[in-house]
Amino acid sequence: MTAILTNPLRVGLRQEKLPEPQIITIFGASGDLTQRKLVPAIYQMKLDRRLPPEITVVGVARRDWSHEFFREHLKQGVIEFGNGIQSEAAWEEFAQGLFYCPGDIDKPESYLRLKAFLGELDESRKTLGNRVFYLSVAPNFFPEAIEQLGAADMLADAQKQRLVIEKPFGRDLTSAQNLNQVVQKVCRENQVYRIDHYLGKETIQNLLVFRFANAIFEPLWNRNYIDHVQITVAETVGVEDRAGYYESAGALRDMLQNHLMQTFCLTAMEPPNSLDADSIRTEKLKVLQATRLADLQNLERCAVRGQYSSGWMKGKEIPGYRQETGVDPNSTTPTYVAMQFAIDNWRWKGVPFYLRTGKRMPKKVSEIAIQFKEVPWRIFQSAAKQANPNVLVLQIHPDEGISLQFEAKMPGPDLRTRTETMEFGYDSSFGVKSSDAYDRLLLDCMLGDQTLFTRSDEVEEAWRIVMPALSAWESDRNPNTIPLYEAGTWEPIEAELLLNQHGRRWRRI
Ligand code: BG6
Repeated sequence: MTAILTNPLRVGLRQEKLPEPQIITIFGASGDLTQRKLVPAIYQMKLDRRLPPEITVVGVARRDWSHEFFREHLKQGVIEFGNGIQSEAAWEEFAQGLFYCPGDIDKPESYLRLKAFLGELDESRKTLGNRVFYLSVAPNFFPEAIEQLGAADMLADAQKQRLVIEKPFGRDLTSAQNLNQVVQKVCRENQVYRIDHYLGKETIQNLLVFRFANAIFEPLWNRNYIDHVQITVAETVGVEDRAGYYESAGALRDMLQNHLMQTFCLTAMEPPNSLDADSIRTEKLKVLQATRLADLQNLERCAVRGQYSSGWMKGKEIPGYRQETGVDPNSTTPTYVAMQFAIDNWRWKGVPFYLRTGKRMPKKVSEIAIQFKEVPWRIFQSAAKQANPNVLVLQIHPDEGISLQFEAKMPGPDLRTRTETMEFGYDSSFGVKSSDAYDRLLLDCMLGDQTLFTRSDEVEEAWRIVMPALSAWESDRNPNTIPLYEAGTWEPIEAELLLNQHGRRWRRI
């Protein structure tokens, strides 16, 4: 049962609906994600009346917290990381729907206690048995948590019970396949929401609109006009206080296999027949099936890892990754990865896609840069030594927008050209800040819309592509072979060569 709301901020890919009353149970609720992202997003949606009044959140974690302590902890999170409380009365009403249920991920009795508690809440909060179970625990606990939920019969109702699984989904292809099997034993695919917060970003969804709601770009979107594509997700932060997780993940599992590859899929996929979840996910799967690392015989020519060493950023000395708290001083965990993908299909044959992501880079920036081919014959002089080919940049974050570089005539009697830019900005055009990705994704999950979540076959195919590099890197534990880059600089030299070998350069943004 859903009601249609008209929300001027969200005239989007579909009309906005109001989800049914439900309980969102978060496993790992004492962690950062709940305090910084999930609860601030739920609170903001409640304030915006995008959620029903009965909405209820139950946090599960090992610590012995009370409901009151949990509420206060979340309130601080909304103040510090969200849009603030805005109204004490509204917060008080919301806080009455926040509960904490201590439990151990591997103890059956914790699930039985939780199940009974959720049953009581159904009575007092009128949540009608609707459940979202959100796994925000360390990835190695996913199988245990899912099996226990299954054993406690908490995922048996495919209509009312949903499971959200954070990334990374598996550590490699085999473990992702195993995890999918565990999931399939206890629930159906239509109950499973493999979350990748990049898919919740407005700018990522706008890729579909940009490509398929405009007639003029799609004819150029292929090997006849495009020279290559660069997808960059650069961060200025280091490992922060997440060494425990990051040491076993690294940049490939943390970012490239999910956020960058999903972005890649939406850039390269064919037009879907419709906007329904499976049409879109099938097109993403097809492009993944046609993709491989560009040179499987010479992996170092198409896949490079790196790790930040000490350096200076904004006048401050920054420790190297191996000097960070909780990091092994001989760690070979990559904090940077770059890969070149080749797509073996009609549209993209011969067009390289370069993907890179790293921590402690000079700038926080996420973008997709489509570099067009050069003009076949130059008749004009350029102010620069070389005239620049057109570049279309889809800026995902932080300056959300789109820009197109083109050559323009410089004023004066000579026919000289200079590169100029046409720009579109979300902020200036729509006058609103893009919302946080988690609100959109949580709402979709509550509504049962899987479009922005990764299907089991997609996630496995994404692992298949990166496995040759991952296996090679995992078997080389020599701390002296991983290329280093100074904190506050762009990639290691080896990654520059990835493009230089083809006469191209990474964008300096
Ligand atoms: C998370 C990663 O998924 O994405 C983090 O685990 C990373 O390591 C973050 O910092 C980046 O997200 P965003 O939205 O800030 O680009």
